[in-house]
Amino acid sequence: MGDARRPVAGIPCSNLCTMSLLTVEDLGVTFPTADGVVQAVRGLSFDVDSGQTLGVVGESGSGKSVTALTLLGLNPGADITGAATFDGKDLLSMEPDALRKIRGADIAMIFQDPLSSLHPHFRVGWQIAEAIHAHVKISREAAMKQVVELLRLVNIPQPDRRVNAYPHELSGGMRQRVMIAMALALKPKLLIADEPTTALDATVQAQLMELLESMQREMGMALIVITHDLGVIATIADQVLVMYAGRGVERSDTRTIFYQPHHPYTRGLLGSVPEATGVQGRLVPIVGQPPSLIRVPSGCAFHPRCPFAMEICLERQPELTPVAGGPGHTSACWLPPDMVGVGVAMDTARQRYAASHRNERAELLPGVIDAREAAAVRV
Ligand SMILES: Nc1ncnc2c1ncn2[C@@H]1O[C@H](COP(=O)(O)OP(=O)(O)OP(=O)(O)O)[C@@H](O)[C@H]1O
Ligand code: SF4
Ligand SMILES: [Mg+2]
Repeated sequence: MGDARRPVAGIPCSNLCTMSLLTVEDLGVTFPTADGVVQAVRGLSFDVDSGQTLGVVGESGSGKSVTALTLLGLNPGADITGAATFDGKDLLSMEPDALRKIRGADIAMIFQDPLSSLHPHFRVGWQIAEAIHAHVKISREAAMKQVVELLRLVNIPQPDRRVNAYPHELSGGMRQRVMIAMALALKPKLLIADEPTTALDATVQAQLMELLESMQREMGMALIVITHDLGVIATIADQVLVMYAGRGVERSDTRTIFYQPHHPYTRGLLGSVPEATGVQGRLVPIVGQPPSLIRVPSGCAFHPRCPFAMEICLERQPELTPVAGGPGHTSACWLPPDMVGVGVAMDTARQRYAASHRNERAELLPGVIDAREAAAVRV
């Protein structure tokens, strides 16, 4: 987690300290629906510093997009609690007009599907110029000149020609580059990229991730990359926040998440990218599906799927607390804090510990039974 209390130049860190660029505290987002209340985000806290890249990872429905949209005031109908401070301002209590000024200029977002974000009937150059005009008073010619430069910056070949293209005339990768150019147009302090490469093939994915990384370095902005795939952020993120059922379940620097994970959910996600660690471990698949967020399981919401679930996990919700992987490493799990790692020995230690902390009720957990069968499987 970023150091939220760093000294301002020359002034000792007493009361006058800089804060992280973005600090989210105990964020809660619910949606009332005909079927019941969807608890999309449940007590989520994290922060991001300028110049830092945070990867937010979790399966579908874990609340990643809802979190991002809430920060930008784009979740009409949601009930929101908690706080989100950006550059010293509280985003959640801000008037819509003030938030609109921040959106696009100070915080920009790239969405998963560029086709739904770009208007099909307007040339891409015009659309980027409009985004600039919405925030800055500048002549049309000057804006178009900037647009061509932006397209060049994001490696679109022949930018002075492509500026006049319609979205359907560009490939998926090109359209996503256009979205990145639009997001960067006003040099935002924070860029949120929500599954920016999911629809693209692996080579284009890698190119776009490199592009985002170099843009982030060049502009010194903070970057939040949202993805369901740990592999996508392996090289680009400084810090990783793992989300499950609307909560943060593990947070650390990227290396620690890959080599010294603590939370069984993170461990399970790593099972799908075994080459990422290079460690020949026992495959610990994540069995079952993410839970309904209308009827969230008691205690640790991961317990119905967790191979190590114990009695306490059914009853008490664990909070993010320090564990042994490295400085700032936190995990929300009742396993002992020193049980970090990915190898067979550590998985066996986790299983032994869990077995000695179960009673008859915990023995009947579906995750436990499936995991026993799965334990025989080796990668
Ligand atoms: N407007 C809404 N009304 C009701 N429920 C919603 C609404 N928006 C999101 N949800 C629910 O909130 C939960 C979290 O959704 P979210 O879109 O944040 O997931 P995600 O982690 O981004 O998943 P994905 O990887 O599929 O994009 C889901 O159960 C979703 O159905
Ligand atoms: S061991 Fe318990 S607390 Fe930890 S992830 Fe599994 S169910 Fe949750
Ligand atoms: Mg999403």
